[in-house]
Formats: sequence, structure tokens, C-alpha cells
Amino acid sequence: MRFSTLALPVFLGLPLVSAGPLAARSDADVLLDLNAQAREALEAQLSNSTTEARSTKCNLFNAKVRRDWKFFSCAQRKEYIAAVKCLQKKPSIASPTFAPGAKTRYDDFVAVHINQTLSIHGTGNFLTWHRYYVKAYETALRTDTGTGWTTGKT
Ligand SMILES: *[C@@H]1O[C@H](CO)[C@@H](O)[C@H](O)[C@H]1NC(C)=O
Ligand SMILES: *[C@@H]1O[C@H](CO)[C@@H](O)[C@H](O)[C@H]1NC(C)=O
Repeated sequence: MRFSTLALPVFLGLPLVSAGPLAARSDADVLLDLNAQAREALEAQLSNSTTEARSTKCNLFNAKVRRDWKFFSCAQRKEYIAAVKCLQKKPSIASPTFAPGAKTRYDDFVAVHINQTLSIHGTGNFLTWHRYYVKAYETALRTDTGTGWTTGKT
């Protein structure tokens, strides 16, 4: 697997310029540095397959994979649906002043999305916010429901 130093700036539409050491660092330079650091860390992990490295908190070897619904077996689909239904039966843990209409854990996620809608749609943080949101929802499906839903584990 190869990670391109050009991919992120090109994706973001940033110029591929490199400032001298005394010049003020532009946002593009900072992004290029971050991209290079991330690539180096990933490549180091790829080349490091020790058991110890694989057991660190989150890495390429233990990262969860969120599969597309169309690749679920019938049993996995039923497990997922059971987990969602379970979340819809668990009581809300949101503050009633924050989400007075939330009755279930599922409603909590709806309430958060409604509350944040104006600042997470049509903005630069759309993807990162929703990535975090889906991760929180997935974690709730896995841990709050007791259904054993782990379909997307590996
Ligand atoms: C491999 O991973 C272990 C554990 O995290 C670390 O101590 C070691 O320095 C790593 N080796 C390389 C070549 O990155
Ligand atoms: C979102 O929730 C916060 C905290 O309760 C509140 O101050 C804010 O007004 C809410 N925003 C919207 C758009 O409902």
C-alpha cells in the first residue's frame, strides 16, 4: 500500500508549495507536514508486525471495518436490526433540558443531530463531525444493547 504526500493537499485543492525555513508556515505547509507524518506512522506500522505493535490501542491490524449492508449475511442483518431495536427501547440518557422529546437512546442520537444541524451541514466539518457521530452510534449499538452485535468488527 502506498500513501501519496500529494493526495491530501490535492484533495483539499491546496497549492503544492514549500516555504523556506524562515518563511511563515502556510496552512498548506502544515497540512503537508501532517500528511507526511501520518504516512510515515502508517508505513512504520505496516512494516512492524510484532504482537506488541498489533495490540496497541488502534492500528492497522485491529481497526474495525464498517461493512456495507449489502455484504451482511441474513444473520448479520438480523443482528444489526436487533441492536437498533434494542437502542430504541433503552431509556434516553440525554438531559431533558437538552432533548425534552428524547425518550430512548436512539432518540438521543436524533436529538444531537437536530441540535447540531445548522453547524454541521454545508460546512467544512461535515465529514469529520459525521464520522465521529457514526462512530458514537456504532459504539452504542455494540456496547449499550447487549445484543452482541459485532458484525462490523473485522
Ligand atoms: C514496533 O512496535 C513496537 C511496539 O509498539 C515498538 O516498540 C517498536 O519500536 C516498533 N518497531 C518499528 C521498527 O517501528
Ligand atoms: C443545542 O444545544 C445547546 C445546549 O443545550 C443549546 O444551547 C443550543 O441552543 C442548541 N442549539 C439548537 C440549534 O437547538
